[in-house]
Formats: sequence, C-alpha cells, structure tokens
Amino acid sequence: MVITENASLLALNTFRVEARARYLVTLDALEDIPNFLADERFQNLPRLILGGGSNILLRDDFPGVILHVALKGIELLGEDDAQRYLAVAAGEDWHELVRYTVEHGWAGLENLSLIPGTVGAAPVQNIGAYGVEFAEVCAAVDVVDMTTGQAGIITAVDCRFAYRDSRFKQEPGRYLITSVLLRLPKRFVPKLDYPGVREALANAEITPRAVSDAICTVRRSKLPGLEADQPGSAGSFFQNPLISLEQAAKLRELYPNSPSWDVADQQVKLSAAWLIEQCGWKGRRLGDAGVYAKHALVLVNHGHATGAELWALAEQIMQSVQVRFGVSLQPEPVVLPLPSSATATNGAT
Ligand code: EPU
Repeated sequence: MVITENASLLALNTFRVEARARYLVTLDALEDIPNFLADERFQNLPRLILGGGSNILLRDDFPGVILHVALKGIELLGEDDAQRYLAVAAGEDWHELVRYTVEHGWAGLENLSLIPGTVGAAPVQNIGAYGVEFAEVCAAVDVVDMTTGQAGIITAVDCRFAYRDSRFKQEPGRYLITSVLLRLPKRFVPKLDYPGVREALANAEITPRAVSDAICTVRRSKLPGLEADQPGSAGSFFQNPLISLEQAAKLRELYPNSPSWDVADQQVKLSAAWLIEQCGWKGRRLGDAGVYAKHALVLVNHGHATGAELWALAEQIMQSVQVRFGVSLQPEPVVLPLPSSATATNGAT
C-alpha cells in the first residue's frame, strides 16, 4: 500500500483534468485492506474507490481519501463442457483482459473490446457495447464490505445488474471489488448485428479474435481512444434515457425520425446522441471543453479544460435537451462533487 498526500489525479482520470486528493492510497495487496480500514488518518474522511478513472468527472479537488485498486492476476479456475471460469483481479486492464481471452481463442468478451477502465469497474456500471453486457459473462464478484471489513462473494443475480447499473452503483463506497469471476461460454456464438460490425469483419474467418478486431475498428471510427494524441474523455457522457411508452408516442409524433428502442418494463430507450445532435451540440466547444465531432454523446477535453468547465458544458447540453424534448439526460460517469441536478427524473414532453 502506497500513501501519497495532496496527490495529483491528472494521470488517474481519462478526462485528464487536474484535481488533487487529500490522500491517494494505491492498493496492490489484499492483505493491506485491514491496515487501510484501521488507519487513523482516513477515519471520517470521504472515500472514493477508483479503478482506471475512466468513468469519473472531477469537478473539484477531492477532500478525502482515494483508494486506487491496483490488484493484479488472471487465473483459469476451472472448466466444464459448457464454460470456462476465469478469476480476474480488479486492477487488471479491461481491454488487455479481452485481448488475453481472444488470443487464447476464448469467446465471450470480444464485443466488449477497447472499453477503457479496469476489470473492477466493469460490474459497477455493467459495461456494455455492441449488443453485449458484462452481466452476461459474470458468475460472481469478490468484494470486501468496507463497513465491516468482511470479504464475501456476491453472485451475479445479487449484483442486480441493469442497463449501466448495479448494486455497486446504487450503494457507492460500500463494497470494494477485489476480483470478478467470469463465466465464458465454450460455444462461440458471434454477435455481429450491430451496424458496421459485419462490414469491418470483411471476409475474415469469424473467430473471437477477428470479432474483437472488428469491434476495435468500429469503435475507433466513432469514439476517442486513450492515446496521448486523442482528447481526454470518459466515453459516453450521458446514459440513453428511458421514457414511458406514452411519452415516446408523443415524441415520435413530433419527431418521426428520432431513433428509439422498446425495452422491458413498458419503457422506451432514446438515443441521447441524437437528442444532443438535434440541439446543435455535435462538434461544438466552450473553450477546451467540447462535444466530440464524431459522436455527440462524448464530451472531450481538448487540452486544459477543468472539471468545472466540462460540467458547465454538460449542464448546458442537459438544459437544451430538456427544453426542446422534455427529456432529462443523466450523466453516465460519476460526477464529483455530486451535483443536485444529476438526480432529476424525466418529465412529460
Ligand atoms: N447518433 C446520433 N448522433 C451521433 C451518434 C449517434 O444521432 O453523433 C444516433 C444514431 O442514430 C445511432 C444511435 O444514435 O444509430 C446510436 O448510436 P451508437 O450506435 O453510437 O450508440 P449509443 O447509443 O450512442 C451506446 C453506448 C456506448 C456503446 C455503443 C455501442 C450508452 C450510454 N452508450 O452508445 O457505450 O459503445 O452504444 O454499443 O449506452 C460508453 O458507455 O462509454 C459507451 C461508449
């Protein structure tokens, strides 16, 4: 465990905003968790558990302790006729894990290629892309309950996964995720229906690795990467809003071309990117804070934007979508300190 006081968080958030934490604790061994919990310096301070920093917007310095999870290790625990069980420590890089599996010829994770962040962050927001969600490959999650210090296992059902949601998101700070247990199917059922994926595969033989390569191509054409020449970002900044069937019918009458998808529980999912683009935001910038020119759902830091500037841009976008469409957008990343407007719900159009 390495403890740094007044630590810069610049390298620990993919938006690349400058912010400081009163304490930064890097956790690289499970045995250090009791020491961390007992340390007098950290009592009564706000606490934030951080993986790769790919799903956070720091609007200001963090006045407490940030626990950066750097636990490593990938282990094939066992297999039966139908699946392989893989235990992966929370601090492993998600995309490197995906590549590790496809290099072994193992299926299951290929559609989740190039998602930034760590393995421990994957269950928190139930990462998903190109027709697959983390929930589909999760058997269980190993945790430490930070209120008691007890280690435990939470089965996938008890993780309460939903679209970009889980019990870890609903009870922030309660559980430290130490590793995940993946259940990878032995039968390879490629999911290629997302627009552009088949085209990117061209005539290649369809293997988990070829699908992963195709997903990388599709993703790179729309979303900024993590390379130094790419603008800082946190992927999609807003969730695709869920509205009622009634509200969707009214919206379709007014805007017949608006993309929408029927989902469970009598709800309709709208495209936040479409709503934002219609309001004229795509490619716009306010100083160094901008909306990505290739995808309206992504906010980017073109250089030296502060977290407050990025949030001011987000608020303007949310306001214009609310005024024009009567739809409340919810930020996808964790925004700290938590803004009151982030808890608004969708009203009628
Ligand atoms: N669209 C626009 N303008 C744009 C971009 C898209 O109008 O600038 C419309 C198009 O009609 C398009 C539709 O939005 O058909 C959907 O766009 P896209 O396929 O890019 O998907 P998305 O709904 O915007 C979601 C995830 C992404 C994930 C993709 C692919 C959320 C919040 N985002 O985006 O996840 O990669 O689907 O599965 O659900 C992330 O969470 O960080 C992320 C990148």
